[in-house]
Amino acid sequence: MVMIKIVNNDPKYYDFVRLLRSDLRVQDGFIEVVNITKDQQDKYMKKHIDKYIVALYNNEPAGFAGSLDNDIRVCVHPDYQGKGIGKSLIIELMKRFPDSFAKVKIENEASRKLFESCGFEIKYWLMEK
Ligand SMILES: CC(C)(COP(=O)(O)OP(=O)(O)OC[C@H]1O[C@@H](n2cnc3c(N)ncnc32)[C@H](O)[C@@H]1OP(=O)(O)O)[C@@H](O)C(=O)NCCC(=O)NCCS
Repeated sequence: MVMIKIVNNDPKYYDFVRLLRSDLRVQDGFIEVVNITKDQQDKYMKKHIDKYIVALYNNEPAGFAGSLDNDIRVCVHPDYQGKGIGKSLIIELMKRFPDSFAKVKIENEASRKLFESCGFEIKYWLMEK
């Protein structure tokens, strides 16, 4: 039976999170494009270990979510998208950080749908020139 399990962050997942966050197939979804080194990731994660959770799919790491100053980041590996993993991550993250919000790029339909399906509503438009 296929199983999605949400677990606490752990040093053994640091590199999974780093590689997924830097994966060119998901970078477009984020507002900021990053290229994180192993050293940077270790330092960052040591500081914020409790702000992140990881999703396992059949015991393999498949996605992560975090809430930093209530600002949500979420990502599911392309091989595992569309299976309810993003939703499981957001539901668990909101239990831990109930005041969290998401900044979503207008063209990121997958992310908008994910948050809407978790009960989020659009509250602001961010205007830039
Ligand atoms: C956004 C993202 C996390 C969604 O994760 P996921 O595991 O594929 O999403 P789920 O399978 O849990 O789907 C949740 C809901 O969103 C909908 N959805 C997900 N991807 C979708 C897509 N590409 N198009 C339309 N709807 C989509 C699902 O149908 C589901 O709706 P439902 O609950 O009404 O059935 C994933 O696409 C991703 O990692 N994208 C790249 C990184 C990114 O954009 N992060 C967000 C930054 S704000």
